[in-house]
Amino acid sequence: MKLSDEQLEVFRRDGLLILPSLFSAAEVAAIRAALPPLYDEESEANIGEKAGTAPRTMMGLHQRSDLFDRLVRHPRLVEPARQIAGPDLYIQQVKVNVKAAYEGDVWQWHYDFATHHRDDGVPAPQALNLHILLDEVSHYNGPLYFIPGSHRHEPLPTFHDVTSTSYPLWVVDRETVTNLIAVGGITPALGPPGTVLIFGDLMVHGSPGNMSPWDRAIFSLILNPVANAQTAFARPEYKHHTDFSPVVPLADDCLLEPAAAQ
Ligand code: SIN
Ligand code: MN
Repeated sequence: MKLSDEQLEVFRRDGLLILPSLFSAAEVAAIRAALPPLYDEESEANIGEKAGTAPRTMMGLHQRSDLFDRLVRHPRLVEPARQIAGPDLYIQQVKVNVKAAYEGDVWQWHYDFATHHRDDGVPAPQALNLHILLDEVSHYNGPLYFIPGSHRHEPLPTFHDVTSTSYPLWVVDRETVTNLIAVGGITPALGPPGTVLIFGDLMVHGSPGNMSPWDRAIFSLILNPVANAQTAFARPEYKHHTDFSPVVPLADDCLLEPAAAQ
């Protein structure tokens, strides 16, 4: 699957592409069906919310599930990523952010490169984050908020927030966010299950808590150019995978026809 020139232009201008219903209902059902056994696993790669019992994020999923091992090589994710970031991309991070009904906690305003650079020694902001909405995402169940144009700045100042949530994150301060929003506004990433979001390492984003009765699970794959691989290894492998071999896309029907993945 190739992005059009118009889509590439939107990505360059806004720093975000929203591709509604790129994955079918049957494909989303297959992805969701793979989740319950992973929720149940005793794994340090399953990180709970700070309060309550709900899972916050489940990481390293392609190493824990055949379905996710195919999904990280899906051509509808990998081919657009290669168009934007170059042909040789490795799998940096694979997770589902759960954001459970009533319990899903906030993700503070941040851009991913701050963590990739400071914690993992990634040299340049070239990684791409590819999301698939696994539930209908509305204004009510904790949608991601993006600040269009925020990716066109040099890396902004950040501080390490280890207290707000259960997940340590390098975050952007309020004054900086206020100034960015004054220029770019906020775009909420809403849409039906199967919708794909693509954004880069400098894009400032976050999401509010989910106080609705509706879950909001999102799959996230981060791909980074092999030539821009991490140089520091302080974080656990499930937060930044260390197999730097380039990802090779599978056939388009690899989720529903596993034989096609051979
Ligand atoms: C979220 O799940 O709302 C945050 C995801 C991200 O930071 O990529
Ligand atoms: Mn992020």
